[in-house]
Amino acid sequence: DSNKFQAIISHCKEYGFIFPSSEIYDGLGAVYDYGQWGSELKKNIKDYWWMSMTRMYENIVGIDAAIFMHPTTWKASGHVDNFSDPMIDNKDSKKRYRVDHLLEAKADELEQQGQKEQAELLLKQMDSLLANDDFDGLKTLIENNKIVCAVSGTANWTEVRQFNLMFSTEFGAVSDEDGDNIVYLRPETAQGIFVNFLNVQKTGRMKIPFGIAQIGKAFRNEIVARQFIFRMREFEQMEMQFFIRPGTQKQWYEYWKEERMKWHLSLGIPADQYRFHDHVKLAHYADAACDIEFNFPIGFKEVEGIHSRTDFDLKNHQEYSRKKMQYFDNDIDEATGKPYGNYIPYVVETSIGVDRTVMMVLSHAYEEQDLSTAEKQDSRVVLKFPAKLAPIKLAILPLVKKDGLPEIARQIMDECKPHFKCFYEEKDTIGKRYRRMDAIGTPFCITVDHQTKEDNMVTIRYRDTMQQERVPVAKVKEIILQSLV
Ligand code: GAP
Repeated sequence: DSNKFQAIISHCKEYGFIFPSSEIYDGLGAVYDYGQWGSELKKNIKDYWWMSMTRMYENIVGIDAAIFMHPTTWKASGHVDNFSDPMIDNKDSKKRYRVDHLLEAKADELEQQGQKEQAELLLKQMDSLLANDDFDGLKTLIENNKIVCAVSGTANWTEVRQFNLMFSTEFGAVSDEDGDNIVYLRPETAQGIFVNFLNVQKTGRMKIPFGIAQIGKAFRNEIVARQFIFRMREFEQMEMQFFIRPGTQKQWYEYWKEERMKWHLSLGIPADQYRFHDHVKLAHYADAACDIEFNFPIGFKEVEGIHSRTDFDLKNHQEYSRKKMQYFDNDIDEATGKPYGNYIPYVVETSIGVDRTVMMVLSHAYEEQDLSTAEKQDSRVVLKFPAKLAPIKLAILPLVKKDGLPEIARQIMDECKPHFKCFYEEKDTIGKRYRRMDAIGTPFCITVDHQTKEDNMVTIRYRDTMQQERVPVAKVKEIILQSLV
């Protein structure tokens, strides 16, 4: 529901998770900055993915390639010719829209009005027209559904046209009339992996099947309907290309679908919040593709794509660079009794958006709770992050600012802070401090009180249950560390 979505956006801003970019200048469309707690959350998500990929799979290594790449990369990859979306302009407002966004918004509207079947039919028609690049048909569909521009209120549309989504800039100080110094900001991190495939394979002595993982920024000139960090112009991806023997792609595609779903479930999100969506229209590089969709407050939407990319990328890089992109496989092929020999590997990729994962984790964690009793009204907003993703793991709170309590709290702080993110606070009532920690998703708070001086115990308070118990000071660090595995 869109109320929850709006509430999360406000909460993110109020509690230092996510701000509009350059907000003092009224923001920049579909660009966002992560604040003090948002950046911790995002980093924890990236670290968890990185650890899962490069440590738990012994045959996957990570790299960190540059955002700028040789311009020919994007000719070889097909992005110059194919990385475009059908768009339409409103002649009165001059606003440009992605055709699929316009139609999806209409389908959402129909569904909200209880016209579920019409909504489904509309999406089905859209999918089939998109798959056939039927631009006239798409325009007719927009007209028949009486879709108007949100700004002008009119249905005065241009023809449907393709627009490339890549950003470009100039390399070097002087502009070149031939456009030879145009470079693109990468629209996916994957190409940095493809062009380094042999560097890594040779220097790492990698044997097929093996994977290369990477986390980094990507840029797309999206035409956006306001969707917060769901669709951004500057965003981050966590991608892994898995290099395999040709002919084995079906089996590895199924394998990675299963493995990636397990990863999602390991975030503590239940299976009924996810679904697979098979692509009807395949991207220019894929022979099979699906999305893992999460049940966002705005409905089921894509967080991750799993694509069987065949040898499309490596083959094209071999052709454009005239450098061999082949691997020598000396394993014996049982069918022939001879080594498999030289070939261009096939690739199955897993590609997940960091920001969409942040949004997913936030959506699942966000809860407004009514805690009213007969005596008094009360409520709280709590972010129930898994401890391993929480921005702050432990808040250390002396009950009062005197009587030696801050000193004891500081000692605990000094012991714990090299191991995980801690937060020390002595202002306000303990109740208010707990609420603030709930609102940013801190799983544990400990309170140092006068009794601590006698028995060397503190009160630990659990975020989700709000239960409290006494534990020895000496055990605090261990309790938190155990929750992080
Ligand atoms: N290398 C394959 C690739 O880039 P994609 O489906 O275009 O595939 C993969 O993108 C993931 O990147 C998506 O599932 C999504 O999570 C994220 N993503 C793509 N465009 C995005 C955008 N404009 N803003 C935020 N995340 C985006």
